[in-house]
Amino acid sequence: MALIGPSLMCADMGILKETVIRLDEAGVDFFHLDVMDGSFVPNFTLGPDLIKSIRSYTSKPFDVHLMVKHPENHLDLFAEAGADMISVHAEATEHLQRTLQSIRKKGLKAGIALNPSTPIAHLRYVLDTVDYITLMTVNPGFAGQKFIPLMYQKVKDLKDLIDGNGYKIDIQVDGNIGYETIPGVLENGATMLVCGTSSLFRPELTFEEAVERLNHFIR
Ligand code: DX5
Ligand code: ZN
Repeated sequence: MALIGPSLMCADMGILKETVIRLDEAGVDFFHLDVMDGSFVPNFTLGPDLIKSIRSYTSKPFDVHLMVKHPENHLDLFAEAGADMISVHAEATEHLQRTLQSIRKKGLKAGIALNPSTPIAHLRYVLDTVDYITLMTVNPGFAGQKFIPLMYQKVKDLKDLIDGNGYKIDIQVDGNIGYETIPGVLENGATMLVCGTSSLFRPELTFEEAVERLNHFIR
């Protein structure tokens, strides 16, 4: 059964506390927190202080997506802010295996995120050190972009790589995950859906209606 995780960079920051509480009560499974440094991606979003400020409003896992260069230098900051899971971009660190080990040593789940063009072969020798893999299905940095069609095949190829080597690793998809794209990514093996403007943050729906509609659609 796929898990639903709101991408909070899509939320109205002026009502973030209420948003987190309502989404939690509506039944989402985790919260996806995008962190950007303006260098690895051309944007800035949520920081550790903001993450810390909402930590006490939910007990659901905080999945921190570090779209930053040298993420290994910032792990403590986000662990102390309340992260339960941290994903780092394979393209952003020279020492991916050691960075994943460091995340696990802090008692957190370790994730790897891949930009759309990065081959999944990059993951082969760290499959034993990762708990979830995030496939960017848009180019990272902004909400509201279009799904990159070849990413359906990438989800399937990743599922084959994981199953073929006998691992159990969650496949998270991130970017334009909505009603048009969810059937294809689920069919190919996705287990965690990062939901932003295409499914959860829609002006015509309350959070409760959006979560209920998503639940019916995927379960
Ligand atoms: C993009 C972020 C995504 C994004 C999702 O770099 O990683 O989480 O906010 O938003 P939508 O669903 O609008 O693509
Ligand atoms: Zn993200």
